Amino acid sequence: MDTLAELAQIETTALAELRAADTLDVLEAWRVDYLGRKGRLTGVLRGMGSLPAEERPVVGGRANEVRVRLEDAFAARRAEVEAAAETAQLEAERLDVTLPGRAPRMGRAHPLTRVLDEVKAIFLGLGFDILDGPEVETFYYNFASLNYPEDHPAMDEQDSFYLTDDTLLRTHTTATQVRILQERTPPVRCIYYGRVHRREQLTLRHSHTFHQVDGLLVDEGVTFADLKGTLDAFFKELFGPQTQMRFRADFFPFTEPSADFSFTCFECHGAGCRLCSGTGWVEFGGCGMVHPNILRHVGLDPERYTGWAFGFGVDRVAMRRYGVGDIRLWMENDMRFLTGV
Ligand code: DAH
Repeated sequence: MDTLAELAQIETTALAELRAADTLDVLEAWRVDYLGRKGRLTGVLRGMGSLPAEERPVVGGRANEVRVRLEDAFAARRAEVEAAAETAQLEAERLDVTLPGRAPRMGRAHPLTRVLDEVKAIFLGLGFDILDGPEVETFYYNFASLNYPEDHPAMDEQDSFYLTDDTLLRTHTTATQVRILQERTPPVRCIYYGRVHRREQLTLRHSHTFHQVDGLLVDEGVTFADLKGTLDAFFKELFGPQTQMRFRADFFPFTEPSADFSFTCFECHGAGCRLCSGTGWVEFGGCGMVHPNILRHVGLDPERYTGWAFGFGVDRVAMRRYGVGDIRLWMENDMRFLTGV
């Protein structure tokens, strides 16, 4: 076949194949096949050396013409295929912005945390520091430093979880009291709180794990009247201005005198109801004047410094507030306590 006819045929088939090419991969294969360094057009140009001299310019000019035409056609076809690919991609990734959104699941703080947060906020407002101490405690801080007599039943293995002869899970947050008095100098005004553990028979109202808040104020001239005033302000803030308090004599090794304190039931305001077992009062915790032995033990002169302390449980307050009848539920990871309103 003569070379011009060959060029004409290359042009015709190349353009036909180009029209059929509909992906970038096929296009690239086409380009290599026709226009590449070892492509068909280059092949024709290479063969020109064997042509008679007078034919060469004609064939060369024609070959160039075909090359330019194929290059132009290729660029145009590639632009078409790219545009089609982009349209297809946009179509596939189309977002329906009119679909209703998926609301994230709202969580909220655990009821015990919420009660604790309220307690902390009130004492912060009264000028108290908020502290905590270790949950694994030494016998010394949990009992001995708090003036427990050597044979006190609370120290018995039956009542506490001992880890070694000398360490145990603290049985009350009062365990942090002497730590604080060893670190700070009066005036000391703080609350400290957290998890405590006792070897209890599990019941609706008793768990091996519960939560306490202790408070401590030590300074010159501190009296029991300050304690009453502070607790009164606290309870009125926590349960409302109509709340009344009651103190009754009690005993704790670390306070003298000691008292337990109750407040009027926030359900019936003292009239007596199911929540307060008909008494009108809810027992809350213990308190008293810091025992002089403890002040002396941390190097404070009881003739100059006095102080008071109190402690109460958080779990039963939260039970009453949220109408939960079983103390063990607080520690059971029930998701309903944590999901939104
Ligand atoms: N630690 C006592 C308990 O767990 C409560 C208590 C009583 C704490 C009197 C005190 C206090 O700080 O002064 O029963």
